[in-house]
Amino acid sequence: MNQFLSAHDIKDIDGLIERAQRHKAAPFGFDDVGYNKTVINLFFNPSLRTRISTEKAATQLGFQVITYDASGGWNIEFDEGATMNLDTAEHVREAAGVLSQYCDVLCVRSFPSLTDREADYADHVIKSFVKYATVPVVSLESATRHPLQSLADCITITENSSRPRPKVVLTWAPHPRRLPQAVANSFAEWMVKWDKVDLVITNPEGFDLAPEFTKGAKVMHDQAEAFRNADFVYAKNWSSYADYGQTADLPGWMVDEAKMGLTNNAYFMHCLPVRRNVVVSDGVLNSNRSLVLQQANNRTWSAQAVLEAIMRGE
Ligand code: CP
Repeated sequence: MNQFLSAHDIKDIDGLIERAQRHKAAPFGFDDVGYNKTVINLFFNPSLRTRISTEKAATQLGFQVITYDASGGWNIEFDEGATMNLDTAEHVREAAGVLSQYCDVLCVRSFPSLTDREADYADHVIKSFVKYATVPVVSLESATRHPLQSLADCITITENSSRPRPKVVLTWAPHPRRLPQAVANSFAEWMVKWDKVDLVITNPEGFDLAPEFTKGAKVMHDQAEAFRNADFVYAKNWSSYADYGQTADLPGWMVDEAKMGLTNNAYFMHCLPVRRNVVVSDGVLNSNRSLVLQQANNRTWSAQAVLEAIMRGE
């Protein structure tokens, strides 16, 4: 692997899950991988899980780790040919070139604007770093995808599946803010490519995800019908792709005990952070069917697996 931006960078998802499970079984068993090597984590947006789990993963692999809050640094210009006489102080061409001299793997998080669909879906920030960096780039979530989260979700489903091809339901859930589609896009993309589950996506009319991510999944607008016999329910809010970046006040889409009662005693999943009693009721989140902490735990092993695969060129 020479970059990790999406499921398309993975030839064998099961092989990567098995690699992550080897790291989970022996967290310090691969501490030669990062010997005399450096990982830089560049954050343009906030994070709790991604930042800490990636730092922990890299440290356990023996890397030196530098995390930089790019939101507090020089404003970076991403447009080619820009005349930089306004707010941007440094072009990504120099920034990526400089950082590549300081590290062996460059990890980047950046969120979409949610105002310009074409620009967001061009994923300029992460793609510009890939273009100008001379070291492998790992996505810590881009405008359109969150692949380390999706890999952790695949691990979590693997650990909790009790039958072949479980029914996995990705459900839209309410949220007071306008949120990216990245987690949902990525989850759908990984589930379809993995082809080990039957994926159903349920969301209100007007909130269908971009078709490039959902081809191969069943999309339903009746949430209760979608939940029937589900083995896993993955809740996430996303703003509209069609009416780009807009949201809707639909509290009836919250996941609660009554809806989980329609399922095959399903496990509940969410990438976190989650708004209690808005996205999901306390009763569901506090139940012994909630996998949210296990998902967050698996972020460390997914990061270790990806960093090891990159360093070994496998
Ligand atoms: N799930 C996730 O990526 O969490 P953070 O935004 O806290 O990193």
